[in-house]
Amino acid sequence: MANDHDTVAYDVEDGIAWLRFNRPDKRNAMSPRLNRAMMVALDELEFRNDVGVLVLTGEGSAWSAGMDLKEYFRETEANGLRGIRQAQRESYGWWRRLRWYQKPTIAMVNGWCFGGGYGPLFACDLAFCADEATFGLSEINWGILPGGGATKVAVELLSFRRAMYHALLGEPIDGKTAAEWGLVNESVPLVQLKDRVTDVASKLNERNPVTIKAIKDAVRRVGDMTYDDAEDYLLRAQEAANSFDNDGRKEGIRQFIDEKSYKPGLGAYDRSRRS
Ligand code: ACO
Repeated sequence: MANDHDTVAYDVEDGIAWLRFNRPDKRNAMSPRLNRAMMVALDELEFRNDVGVLVLTGEGSAWSAGMDLKEYFRETEANGLRGIRQAQRESYGWWRRLRWYQKPTIAMVNGWCFGGGYGPLFACDLAFCADEATFGLSEINWGILPGGGATKVAVELLSFRRAMYHALLGEPIDGKTAAEWGLVNESVPLVQLKDRVTDVASKLNERNPVTIKAIKDAVRRVGDMTYDDAEDYLLRAQEAANSFDNDGRKEGIRQFIDEKSYKPGLGAYDRSRRS
């Protein structure tokens, strides 16, 4: 099944939503129109029963070449502060929606990834890229600081020294370096990228979806908390997840303790079976 919003496209197959930046001619630069289309697409996909995992990727040679310098910057600035703020709300809005998405999300970075692209990159829970991909905080190269969260993303994901170098120099890095630095989970040759991401997405689809949402939120939340606050938050998040899907947890215990059909240390319980 396919749906096309012109600047954005998606297909759903075997529990995976493949959502694509779809402006290959413009290297998938994020225009206000694309940002609005992304929000609509995320909205359409989020609670579909046939979607367990969302993968964000790009058509053509780019993942995303960042914000559209013409349509996002020059043209909205022509509309004054009102136009600038509206364009910011629309882009930051879908990245925020993606950060707290109901389903687990994977960035599949197939090519160019610059500047504002770091917003959706960080918004995805996991990230896999092609060795051939190119990443960069290129803002300095045309004279702005990496805004829209990009500096924050660099500091969250990279060491202090690497974040500073990356932001100050504007030098691009390849996929393997991005993986070594921690910008993405893994880098593989482009020809293997989709298979690797499909493999990870399929594994996520086998896990308990209530617990997945609780875990992904917890990993994002606890970073800013004291140990004691995190301990308390996690206790309550766990209890809330348990009460929302008590059966799943009991089934997981049953298959291990009574049935001895799997070992939780080595893999997940079979969600298709309920006693
Ligand atoms: N904004 C607007 N248009 C863009 C952008 C962008 N960010 N990136 C590419 N395009 C357009 C080009 O203007 C060109 O349009 P045209 O065909 O109408 O002339 C088309 O996309 C193709 O671009 P090329 O530069 O010809 O493609 P190439 O494959 O040679 O290079 C690359 C790709 C390296 C991504 C290059 O386009 C580039 O440097 N883009 C800008 C990257 C960038 O710095 N983005 C901004 C980050 S800062 C921020 O997001 C806040």
